[in-house]
Amino acid sequence: MPATDDFTVTPYAVEGDIDYDRLLDEFGAESLTTEQKAQFPQPVHQLIRRDVFYAGRDVDAFLAAANEGKTHSIVTGRGPSGPIHIGHIIPFYFAKYLQDQTGCLVYIPLSDDEKYLLKDKSLDEIHGHTRENLLDILAVGFDPERTRIVVDTADADVVYPLAAAFAKEVTQSTVDATYGDPENIGLSFYPAVQAAHLLLPQLVEGRHPTLVPIAVDQDPHVRVCRDIAAKQRYDVSKPGALLSKFLPALEGPGKMSSSGDAASIRLSDDRETVFEKIRNHAYSGGRRSVESHREHGGDPEVDVPYQFLYYFFEKSDERVERLAREYRDGSLLSGELKEIAAASIADFLEAHQNRREELGPVADELKQYRLRESERQAARKQAGYPSTRVF
Ligand code: TRP
Repeated sequence: MPATDDFTVTPYAVEGDIDYDRLLDEFGAESLTTEQKAQFPQPVHQLIRRDVFYAGRDVDAFLAAANEGKTHSIVTGRGPSGPIHIGHIIPFYFAKYLQDQTGCLVYIPLSDDEKYLLKDKSLDEIHGHTRENLLDILAVGFDPERTRIVVDTADADVVYPLAAAFAKEVTQSTVDATYGDPENIGLSFYPAVQAAHLLLPQLVEGRHPTLVPIAVDQDPHVRVCRDIAAKQRYDVSKPGALLSKFLPALEGPGKMSSSGDAASIRLSDDRETVFEKIRNHAYSGGRRSVESHREHGGDPEVDVPYQFLYYFFEKSDERVERLAREYRDGSLLSGELKEIAAASIADFLEAHQNRREELGPVADELKQYRLRESERQAARKQAGYPSTRVF
């Protein structure tokens, strides 16, 4: 289990001061190489350029298919446990960017079952979050021809048979060793559900390279799924992974949580709220007084507003490097850096919110992204079920 003395990273708990390189040794994933980064579509996204997505598994097969114009897919999902914050939406915008560049298929599962099993929330609350989260995902603007969204409990006709088939390939001791002893039998089963998510594009479209861009805590799900694929009972190749670091929490290091108490920036926050949160809650790498800051400079490495810009919100390398330089030499004050970060995040959110407001009712919008009947049948058939439904 990837729990050490000083930090814990599992799908169900992220705590402490994370050593990202040590995690790779424990998980058996590999840092992205310079050559791999250069194979990403041009212009290479800042998340790749700046090592936010810093590691992976079988990234080459995906990049080769993308560069040769062959079928390739991304799976990036959401556990609807609460409102989406800025850290959660980043993989979706990354998937949208890749889809625009390479035409990749994007499959987006929502694991409402997982979050019901894990959190102390009613089915009704989880349903409400699912609905709201869907609107945010729809607002990203994926191409309906190349994107499929599934909700575990609403697309159970396809998710359940696949999960049941894959569950047979995973022993309880594997689950215990990978996740710690799950709290209930639903969570023991859930890895089979997420395996169904990760293999779904191949079950629908035939064998091809799939890449799963996720924060590193989700890697155990990929490992379990890769073991299932490796048994070759199904005509699928092991899904690859692209692993990211966590966007820092507003108040300091660690993961931003949507359900914990810590303040985080939500997709629904208006400009004023974003500025207020950054001004009053963002951990600063600046000095206590202006005089001391001018003299000694600040530390962008620990400054959360700077890290937000660096991770995602400032696209220009030249600008982000200049900000770091000016912060270090004391010419840029911590309050000024906060205003820059807040403005950039608020602009991003405003554009997102405008697209969201233009959407119609969620069920109508979702229609064009749902699996077609023929796709449902193809997936069930590939998993070994009869090709036509008799009941
Ligand atoms: N388990 C993920 C979470 O808790 C959500 C999720 C479900 C997911 N299926 C996925 C993420 C497939 C990536 C790929 O956030």
